[in-house]
Amino acid sequence: MPIENAAEVSSWSPDSWRRRPALQQPEYPDRAALEGVLAELRQLPPLVTSWEIVLLRQQLAEAAGGARFVLQAGDCAERFVDCRSARIANMLKVLLQMSLVLVAGAQKPVIRIGRFAGQYAKPRSAGEETRDGLELPSYRGDIINRPEFTAAARAADPQLLLRGYERSALTLNFIRALVKGGFADLHHPEYFDLDWVEHSPLADEYHRMAASIGESLRFMEHVLGVRAGETDRIDFFTTHEALHLAYEEAQTRRVPRRPGWFNLTTHFPWVGLRTNDAAGAHIEYLRGIENPVGVKVGPGFTAEQVARWMEALDPERQPGRLTLIHRFGAGRIAEALPRLIEAVRAAGGRPLWICDPMHGNTRLTGGGVKTRRFEDIYAEVEQAFAIHQAMGQTLGGAHIELTGENVTECIGGAGGPSEEGLGEAYESEVDPRLNYEQSLELAFLIARKMKNGR
Ligand code: PEP
Ligand code: CO
Repeated sequence: MPIENAAEVSSWSPDSWRRRPALQQPEYPDRAALEGVLAELRQLPPLVTSWEIVLLRQQLAEAAGGARFVLQAGDCAERFVDCRSARIANMLKVLLQMSLVLVAGAQKPVIRIGRFAGQYAKPRSAGEETRDGLELPSYRGDIINRPEFTAAARAADPQLLLRGYERSALTLNFIRALVKGGFADLHHPEYFDLDWVEHSPLADEYHRMAASIGESLRFMEHVLGVRAGETDRIDFFTTHEALHLAYEEAQTRRVPRRPGWFNLTTHFPWVGLRTNDAAGAHIEYLRGIENPVGVKVGPGFTAEQVARWMEALDPERQPGRLTLIHRFGAGRIAEALPRLIEAVRAAGGRPLWICDPMHGNTRLTGGGVKTRRFEDIYAEVEQAFAIHQAMGQTLGGAHIELTGENVTECIGGAGGPSEEGLGEAYESEVDPRLNYEQSLELAFLIARKMKNGR
């Protein structure tokens, strides 16, 4: 493919995305206020560090080689009101439990990457929303505007960027303190038991498995005299959609003693389906940072686009640098994924492969409620494992929208709601998430799949 603007291609800078078409960016009525906030963001200390980013990149390289499995999961969108200790702890608990289940099934380490501490900006299919003849900007996530349908609430407010940054820091601070304080200690999986796991049909299976992990640890320590060290404490990394580019740019920095630029708002930024155009601003932004980066891929991709992603984002084909997060839907993956794998091979790519079984399976009920069926979600993951294996490679992870709360947003699973039950506890302003039990059930199914696949 011809590169028309070779000079531009080589001259990346944190703001070079501004020379490309940038989709999904909010319009700020008060530009000066926005500039003031961005200047302040540039001065604030970072949320994550370059050595954590480098560590994650190494671990993702191992996942690409089949030696680790990635669990990338959390809310579709975080909300400011949910920046509460119980909510954050519940999210950690469900991620910890799922990862224990996955470790037991996969017999390899699991990398936990939370869609948290910054997952506040959302792409929307329409820029405006109309109700009763009144047209207002769409709600784009708490870091941009507010969900209430009034002109004041829907105006993009730059102060929310600061509030979001601060809440990300609060969230991360609490997570780091919990992990350091022993909350995630594998000797004590009871610390991350959720209260109502007792009532779940999966409780017994989970407890048996957690107990056996505890026993193995004690065996290593007491009988073999080995201190489990790194393996007895669990770490988390963070991830969010790098959607609001001025915000991401403000925390894109150089660090002492390491070459290159790092996005220090999150370890693992990804670009979503609506902004993944290889010639667009979002890919341009990701191109120049040292973080591992992800790209969501849907059924409409072309081989040419795939080749351009490889050239822009991973010209040296370094394992761990680029992750393709495919989200085709249970009905389309059988056709689309083999085609994607072929396109990547034709371009000489070596990405990490992650399956997002959520975003291709969203549908509306007869009553107009946005939902997903558990069976579609599992059907997509199951096919993803089979297709990768049949084509001689491995699926390296799963990307899931979930919550530690007992919501009723997705239909099905062993104890999940039916379509009629969706109204009981539907909270999400954006996409429907698996609740705690559905998440754990999915982890068990994936674990079983990996165990049988060995
Ligand atoms: C998301 O991950 O919340 C999302 C919007 O996904 P996608 O870009 O794949 O539609
Ligand atoms: Co979503």
